[in-house]
Amino acid sequence: MILRWTVPFVVLLVAAALAYGYGLTTPRALSQVSSEGQALYVANCASCHGQNLEGQPDWMRRLPNGRLPAPPHDETGHTWHHSDRQLLTIIRDGLAAIAPGYESDMPAFGGVLTDAQITEILDYIKGTWPDRARAYQAARTAADPS
Ligand code: HEC
Repeated sequence: MILRWTVPFVVLLVAAALAYGYGLTTPRALSQVSSEGQALYVANCASCHGQNLEGQPDWMRRLPNGRLPAPPHDETGHTWHHSDRQLLTIIRDGLAAIAPGYESDMPAFGGVLTDAQITEILDYIKGTWPDRARAYQAARTAADPS
């Protein structure tokens, strides 16, 4: 009789403990936070910057037209070298907005995406970086407030 109740009780206890521990130890997954950002990225950016943020092949070599291919947005690229303000300006207004006269195949998304949507995309991109790159980019942003 005792055994009949003990087993389910212990199972329940273990399950509750696991659920509790899981909730405490699992940080809010970034992919959850910015799944909207990922969808926006796939729809607007992935055709050039790659489905997995890998950029175009040989992205450091200029194309025959003298322009640069799309760089990766993962930690092998240089997106994390730029502050939030710079990134928002580049994406919304184009690279010429921070480097006047610069010719680039990177479109300006000002008429297509809101600032909030661009921020969502950036949150998704940042969520893929290792801590070191995130910390560096956060410091750049702190030194360059918008
Ligand atoms: C038609 C192709 C194309 C699309 C679509 C595109 N890009 Fe780019 N992007 C480029 C190219 C090419 C460059 C490199 C420009 C250069 O240095 O001349 C670039 C550069 C950038 C840079 C500056 C480099 C860096 O990594 O900091 C950012 C930021 C950027 N793109 C973000 C985006 C985002 C976000 C989207 C989607 C909203 C997007 N791009 C969509 C082609 C594209």
